[in-house]
Amino acid sequence: MRVAIYPGSFDPITNGHLDIITRGSKIFDKLIVGVLVNVDKVGLFEIEERVELIKRVTSHLHNVEVISFKGLLVDLAKEYDARVILKGLRAVSDFEYEFQMALMNSQLDSNIETLFMTTSAANSFLSSSSVKQVAKFGGDINNLVPAEIKEDIIRKINK
Ligand code: PNS
Repeated sequence: MRVAIYPGSFDPITNGHLDIITRGSKIFDKLIVGVLVNVDKVGLFEIEERVELIKRVTSHLHNVEVISFKGLLVDLAKEYDARVILKGLRAVSDFEYEFQMALMNSQLDSNIETLFMTTSAANSFLSSSSVKQVAKFGGDINNLVPAEIKEDIIRKINK
């Protein structure tokens, strides 16, 4: 069985993430979406909330599992018997950071491959931070996040 991990902060999940998850779920037998528990960074949503939002928008994708994780990504991959880390690349500016992480992960475990998928052009400008900023100042986030979670984001930001 071909298992891949799609890791991230997902604070919150955007249309760009969902696009990669949807396309990734067609390539792999199982896709684990791993939400990083980052003790050094306070986010907008709690980890359990992020997991719930992702589960809500991926419930139709039956080979997608959403979990949270602490520690090293390669350890999570080992735990789930995943040989692949799936990442989305938006622009050249993502490359340096992603390249560094891919090399570090391959140094930590040479059996694990990082695969990059290009985001669709429509989502190439999207990030969780920009969604939060647009929502904060009352901009339209309709085309940026899945419709089922739009209200959750607006409610949380205005709290
Ligand atoms: O959505 P993000 O914040 O860009 O995701 C970053 C993430 C979660 C992929 C990255 O921080 C990560 O893999 N963290 C786990 C810690 C780890 O394995 N570090 C070693 C590789 S640099």
